[in-house]
Amino acid sequence: KAEPLRFDGQVAVVTGAGGGLGKAYALLFGKLGASVVVNDLGGSAGGQGADSRAADIVVEEIRKAGGKAVANYDSVEEGDKVVETALKAFGRVDIVVNNAGILRDKSFARMTDADWDLVHRVHLRGTYKVVQAAWPHFVKQKYGRIINTASAVGLYGNFGQTNYSAAKLGVVGFTRTLALEGQRKNILANVIAPNAGTRMTATVMPPEMVEAFKPEYVAPLVAFLGHSSNEETGGIFEVGSGWVAKVRWQRSGGVGFPANRELTPEQVAEAWSRIIDFEDGRATNPNSTQDSFQGFMDNFSNVAQEEEKPEGSLDVESAK
Ligand code: NAI
Repeated sequence: KAEPLRFDGQVAVVTGAGGGLGKAYALLFGKLGASVVVNDLGGSAGGQGADSRAADIVVEEIRKAGGKAVANYDSVEEGDKVVETALKAFGRVDIVVNNAGILRDKSFARMTDADWDLVHRVHLRGTYKVVQAAWPHFVKQKYGRIINTASAVGLYGNFGQTNYSAAKLGVVGFTRTLALEGQRKNILANVIAPNAGTRMTATVMPPEMVEAFKPEYVAPLVAFLGHSSNEETGGIFEVGSGWVAKVRWQRSGGVGFPANRELTPEQVAEAWSRIIDFEDGRATNPNSTQDSFQGFMDNFSNVAQEEEKPEGSLDVESAK
């Protein structure tokens, strides 16, 4: 039987923890011995208004169950205040779960700057600001666990969510770079794309799915990634309904044209079926910018031999 994963003496900050997924994370961390900062602005699903009750109710629930928790009502855009609450109440911060989020769905033709900016400010900038405030503490104590929240919509796209999908894939890039910068300091960062029945999805999921896709099925992965025994970093995970999986990139073997010859659109068209072929046994799974660059480097030496030309003839190729 596996050792129980405990968080005694550790401090977890969970943003947007007044409801939905964040609430399930906060309750689980509290149950497993962590001191929890329950952050929630308490506004509407579209990002309007504010209400301290959302966070207070969850703090109450953690305390009633014998756990330790304090509330914070600031927007994640003020990440320094969120982290300050952890330092004031508990004197440290070990785990940050960036979960707060809103939706402003519109088809792209009707998307306004306000819809675009507000979604980016909460998801991407909010995630950045909370990590920015926690980072120096993580560096100093040579320990930190970051779990950020993307979405399948960011990885794959979805009608009516250009603002949200752009912000969510931004969170993926942010997380993967944090993972690289944090690794030597034992600061690990992973990103999840969850699926759960919450107020955010209640309008699009049938009721029986909302019931079956409990946030409690996502929380255990978040706890695992937040634990000191976890060594995974820079990972992307899809999680929900009791199912957990890792996502990675795949790149086709590609087509290398001679590096010393002019490349024409017609040549690209002619090679198209091979460029997009993932089934020819040459596809790879690049996992770093270095891996990615290797494909370019390999074609460096792909040099076509000059054709023999009779003495004194005009070099048509190089005259172009
Ligand atoms: P939810 O709407 O139930 O919870 C989000 C919480 O964040 C709310 O309590 C809200 O008050 C809080 N919040 C919003 N803006 C805030 C701000 N500026 N500062 C602090 N708190 C703020 O939504 P749900 O479903 O629990 O979503 C949690 C996260 O998971 C979000 O980032 C969402 O985009 C993501 N997600 C959820 C999916 C799902 O199936 N439920 C699917 C993919 C991603």
